[in-house]
Amino acid sequence: MCGIIGYIGNEEATELLLNGLEKLEYRGYDSAGLAVFDGRNLKVAKSKGRLKVLREVLKNNGGLKGKAGIGHTRWATHGKPSDENSHPHVSTLRKFAVVHNGIIENYLSIKNFLISKGKKFSSETDTEVIAQLLEYYDNGNTLDTVVKVLNDIKGSYAIGIIYEDNPEEIIAAKKDNPLIIGIGENENFITSDVTAIVSKTKNIVRLKDSEIAVIKSDDVIIYDMNKNFVKKEIKVIDWNIDSAEKCGYDHFMLKEIMEQPKAVKDTICSKIKENEIFFDKFLFSKEYLEKINKIFIIACGSAYHVGYVGKYLFEKLFKKPVEVDIASEFRYRDPIVDKNSLVILISQSGETADTLAALRKSKQLGARTLSIVNVIGSSIATESDDVFHTRAGPEIAVATTKAYSAQLCAIYLLAIYFSRKLNTISLKKYNYFIKELIYLPEKISKVFNITEQIRNFSKNFYQAKNVFFIGRNLDYVVSLEGSLKLKEISYIHAEAYAAGELKHGTISLIENNTLIVATLTQKSLVGKTVSNIKEVKARGAIVLLVVTKEVLLKDEHNLKNICDFVFILPDICDEMSPSVSVVPLQLLSYYIALMRGCDIDKPRNLAKSVTVE
Ligand code: F6R
Repeated sequence: MCGIIGYIGNEEATELLLNGLEKLEYRGYDSAGLAVFDGRNLKVAKSKGRLKVLREVLKNNGGLKGKAGIGHTRWATHGKPSDENSHPHVSTLRKFAVVHNGIIENYLSIKNFLISKGKKFSSETDTEVIAQLLEYYDNGNTLDTVVKVLNDIKGSYAIGIIYEDNPEEIIAAKKDNPLIIGIGENENFITSDVTAIVSKTKNIVRLKDSEIAVIKSDDVIIYDMNKNFVKKEIKVIDWNIDSAEKCGYDHFMLKEIMEQPKAVKDTICSKIKENEIFFDKFLFSKEYLEKINKIFIIACGSAYHVGYVGKYLFEKLFKKPVEVDIASEFRYRDPIVDKNSLVILISQSGETADTLAALRKSKQLGARTLSIVNVIGSSIATESDDVFHTRAGPEIAVATTKAYSAQLCAIYLLAIYFSRKLNTISLKKYNYFIKELIYLPEKISKVFNITEQIRNFSKNFYQAKNVFFIGRNLDYVVSLEGSLKLKEISYIHAEAYAAGELKHGTISLIENNTLIVATLTQKSLVGKTVSNIKEVKARGAIVLLVVTKEVLLKDEHNLKNICDFVFILPDICDEMSPSVSVVPLQLLSYYIALMRGCDIDKPRNLAKSVTVE
């Protein structure tokens, strides 16, 4: 949600900032802007629309010259996308320019106060109050002024500030939104995400909540809210530039789909040594696992769908009750959580506001918290008691694919590990699962053999108005993900239904030529799902069957004749089937969206990291 970049050094800032914003555009893309100190004054350029529009504006007005600046790419919260509402926002006397990611909840009262003091507002945003308040408190000491402002504002923020009277430094601060400082040689950066600076430096410092960084070209000093120095360790990131580039693919989404075998392999290998599952960073003893009365799995969107897989697997293997919850619901209901509850939070970004709030609530209620997070050092990873880091690498496309797959692996590993500890699965079963895990990347790669078939199928169905995804058990859970993928990137209305539930209402929507995608991997449920397929066929639907080879070979039900199209998957144990069955659904969404001319990596109205409620 909004991307922030800042630069101070010896190079011209504008191109560096624009290049950084290009990498951050996935976080929001309804408008963009820059503020650069040109040696005398702060100069601002901003515009509604994608970054390319801002580039045009800069070309037409001669550009911004200067070696210190801040930039922003926006996902609107307060005020529609417009030139005026774009960041950076400047104060009335144009002394301060500010970029912000987050929401200032008490902005209205501050705004009214500042208007009464003569400040002139030019936008509808909450952010502008920060710039105006900085100027109101300005006493020549930037740190002092910033602390006063941060004490007044309520809400969440990552902010970058540039101050005309002290252009030798840029200031950054954060609360509940990510902000990273990139340390270069005689140049330094601020950014919402390391992908924006990885081509320039791999040395980073992650700001914590309520820390303020004063960044000069040759120095970075970090303070707490009492203006005391904070000593921070410089971390070296191991991401390479390729992670932030398309590397010949037309879209990040396709690249990331194809990277799934590696994401899965890296995640699994991080926890398997000599055919045993290992968790060296945290310890779930037998005694602790016995005491667990309930597991809660909390997440949003696709990560929530992974949580659903977790529910089926933990209940099947670990034999403990599991509740899976949407984070935005969990945080405002009264869940029965106590010290014997284990709360598992799943998040790619580790910054999703609702998931973070659910984590904090769970801790308050006394639960032990374990997060499954892709971004190292993110808020959710930092605040939870234990962390399982997935190894998907940076995910740029707004629609998640490889992070989802890596999260699935984390769930498998935990469920198998817990179950073996309590002996709810036999050693034989455990060894079998380990083998299945090791072969998983290869099986996912095999699904790519049907890519051309999926592309051809998409040619015939990209104009569909409605698509229904059905399945039972884990096939239902994968259907949820398939339908979300299709909706979010192709804008086709899609619904996922538990196959047995269709007849309780939704079947009334099925008419001649309605496309149904039926997933069938759960061996014990074949007959049941086939009955549901027959029900929709009888009402004129066209059925695409996504099925494992094993199920199809048995084919007691004559599936090939009942269904109109068949995508065949490699054989896989029931428990890990989502890892292979999701791949054709991802590819189907991708090709349908491609044929519809959609902006696949940046679907309308969306942003990658949802740091607001
Ligand atoms: C869908 C998608 C979202 C995210 C959700 C949670 O393709 O990417 O539904 O899964 O916004 O985000 P994280 O995992 O960052 O908490």
